[in-house]
Amino acid sequence: MIRPVRVLRVALVGFGNVGRRFVERLPGPYARVLRAAGARVVLTAVASAGHGRAIDPRGLSAAACLAAVARDGSLDDLHRGPPVRSTLELIRRAPADVMVEVTPLDPRRGEPALSHVRAALRRGMDVVTANKGPVAFGRRGLLALARRHGRRFLHESAVMDGAPVFNLLERCLPGLRVRGFRGTLNSTTGYVLSRVEEGASPADALREARALGIVEKDAAHDLDGWDAAVKGCALANALMAARVAPAQVRRRGIRGLSPALVRRAAREGARYRLVVRARRARGRVQVSVGPERLAAGDPLAGSGSDSALLLDTDLMGEIAIVERGGTVEQTAYGLLSDLVALVRPAAPTRGPRRRRTVP
Ligand SMILES: NC(=O)c1ccc[n+]([C@@H]2O[C@H](COP(=O)([O-])OP(=O)(O)OC[C@H]3O[C@@H](n4cnc5c(N)ncnc54)[C@H](OP(=O)(O)O)[C@@H]3O)[C@@H](O)[C@H]2O)c1
Repeated sequence: MIRPVRVLRVALVGFGNVGRRFVERLPGPYARVLRAAGARVVLTAVASAGHGRAIDPRGLSAAACLAAVARDGSLDDLHRGPPVRSTLELIRRAPADVMVEVTPLDPRRGEPALSHVRAALRRGMDVVTANKGPVAFGRRGLLALARRHGRRFLHESAVMDGAPVFNLLERCLPGLRVRGFRGTLNSTTGYVLSRVEEGASPADALREARALGIVEKDAAHDLDGWDAAVKGCALANALMAARVAPAQVRRRGIRGLSPALVRRAAREGARYRLVVRARRARGRVQVSVGPERLAAGDPLAGSGSDSALLLDTDLMGEIAIVERGGTVEQTAYGLLSDLVALVRPAAPTRGPRRRRTVP
């Protein structure tokens, strides 16, 4: 029997490091994966901040979108129809089934991504995002909004790029309670500290990380621990049913670490890394971020842009998830994995464990 192919129309909001890699892969390997899952993907809208916006109901060419911004031109040249004056207007007008949201992180309010996600769900689109802002600031409300509109809000690549974290817990570890976690979740600081261990200056190491496309638009968000704090909240709120906001996180970045201290630790077989911790204390979940000296055998003591998460659970003890050398490639893959989840039947959403009655 031939399975009917569903057309999946995608509106992409944000066309930077992640958005461009996603579009590069879309016509080739990603289209093949989606096709195997029963969907033909069509890019119908793309929005940026300073590089214009385009809607084409017949489908935008990935190559043309990439060429437009590579020449420092504008997506406006590819647009069909009356001009689109803002991103929110594009979301309201785009003929799309799903919005992929990859605008920069605002660690203090989660905007404008939060408004983009709300607008798309209200319009009846599913939403996939790599932006941890909406997950940390509004996941519970966004899931409720999605349910009211019969849509889904998926965010696998918001933490540890495409490595399965949220989906792993939701689909493969039913009924498990997460008691706490610790993780190295910020690739930029991992990369910078690794290169400083090898003798590079912090400024040169940051420049290299920027060239890899892994640095937040404002590097201070990485270096001062904001990105890690927002990820810690996103995880705590999703996996531990917490309600923690990034402003409540006890947070220290890596700027206070001297290169001499980092290199001495490396000579002694240890590593400084920016560690996020969450634990339940006095009935509340507390999240903290700060540099820690890790022994060589610690699963968090990876190198370069590696990230790792160690979950402390009730029924499975400790579970470690490790991603080696995270780049935008893995982040873009996380978006694909969520698109595949959309075209497959939904798994039940993770929530507080229900008491079961035995018949
Ligand atoms: N890079 C990574 O490795 C990585 C990993 C995991 C998660 N993430 C998350 O993924 C998201 C995107 O990261 P990125 O590295 O691609 O960021 P980026 O390179 O700074 O790109 C952001 C894009 O969003 C556009 N933009 C900004 N404000 C907008 C608005 N109001 N409406 C529409 N477009 C807007 C920018 O437009 P212009 O092009 O005109 O500036 C740019 O195209 C962030 O939330 C980040 O935290 C990134």
